[in-house]
Amino acid sequence: MSGDARKTAEGLSYLSGFGNEHSSEAVPGALPEGRNSPQRAPLGLYAEQLSGSAFTEPRAHNRRSWLYRIRPSAQHPAFIRTGNGAIRTAPFTETVPDPNRLRWNPLPDPAPGTDFLAGLWTLGGNGDAAQRAGMAVHLYHANASMERVFSDADGELLIVPERGGLLLRTEFGLLHVEPGHIALIPRGVRFRVELLDDSARGYVCENYGAPFQLPDLGPIGANGLANARDFRAPVAAYEESEGPVEVVNKFCGNLWTATYDHSPLDVVAWHGNHVPYVYDLRRFNVIGTISYDHPDPSIFTVLTSPSDTPGLAGVDFVVFAPRWLVGEDTFRPPYFHRNVMSEYMGLVEGAYDAKAEGFVPGGGSLHNMMSAHGPDRETFDRASAAELKPQKIDDGLAFMFETRWPVTLTPQAAGAEHLQRRYDDVWDGLERHFRPLR
Ligand SMILES: [Fe+2]
Repeated sequence: MSGDARKTAEGLSYLSGFGNEHSSEAVPGALPEGRNSPQRAPLGLYAEQLSGSAFTEPRAHNRRSWLYRIRPSAQHPAFIRTGNGAIRTAPFTETVPDPNRLRWNPLPDPAPGTDFLAGLWTLGGNGDAAQRAGMAVHLYHANASMERVFSDADGELLIVPERGGLLLRTEFGLLHVEPGHIALIPRGVRFRVELLDDSARGYVCENYGAPFQLPDLGPIGANGLANARDFRAPVAAYEESEGPVEVVNKFCGNLWTATYDHSPLDVVAWHGNHVPYVYDLRRFNVIGTISYDHPDPSIFTVLTSPSDTPGLAGVDFVVFAPRWLVGEDTFRPPYFHRNVMSEYMGLVEGAYDAKAEGFVPGGGSLHNMMSAHGPDRETFDRASAAELKPQKIDDGLAFMFETRWPVTLTPQAAGAEHLQRRYDDVWDGLERHFRPLR
């Protein structure tokens, strides 16, 4: 990392709001007034629309941005196939879907010079990228900044850093994301990941389905959970590089590369609602019981990708953030359950209140549909006997990618050295306490 990069990241400014029509110009006068595509765009720029939804989707779901750039995106040579590294894409058919509870330690250290793209490692997923349905779970571990530029035609990328800050240089401008934040890069948006520390590690949900949106709040009312104003889009910033730049495009599961004669991060101004953004998970307004029991974990939904069935998400992003537990006569950790949805969980920091050990930052667990899980024995015993004083859970930040379809593993995840072989043991020894009345 360069000192300049860290300084740049700290000095960034943003546009607030989720799904808003934003506008930004890096040079005064670069945005045309009253026209999206005037006969001649200001300052000799090219006008270009980037669609995030079909043209005809209802207004509430319609996403597009207008970009005013030094060169149009169309000006590039042919892409040629390149290696996919450890990246895999739906449909996932190389292993048999596994009903077992599974848990992994963090990824091993990467070889020197591994950038974000080379450091992406796919755990598994579901659906079909070409059908624009489903999701993939990736992890990343990198120790070098990208010099190339990447875009993903298959889906949007929800990045959840666990270790190391990132500076995302996107077509729309710069985003700074640290552990405890999330960043979202929309489908097709070009970006480069620069490291702000010696290494970077984290998780990525690649969402092939409908773009993530804020969940409806129902009886919660007009405020709460993730508030729209806390999502931050970049202000316009552009590169004027005329040298060769490698651009990698992920398309229907394969990586394709082309060498441009200029940087494609050359957008001088833009307006629209199809934008990258960052969100600080500490801003999440956590809602829970103030009487007894606790709500289902859907109450912790930050973002949801709806499917064609109301209330049934292609994938939800759910966060288990610091919160008070005050429920009376209540087993306070997450309860034992079997879920029709499939749950991939990761840990950004600290510990998770359903597991005493073994679930560590950078690691993850997978509980596919109907697999039985819940607190381990130690947690069950402790929570069953605990004095129920108000208690602050403030030593961890866990999250979940919860999806309507089972997650099928890649062979590299099914056979990984860092797959824990005895995860089932955490539920060993849950004693029989049943004592029928006589
Ligand atoms: Fe669960």
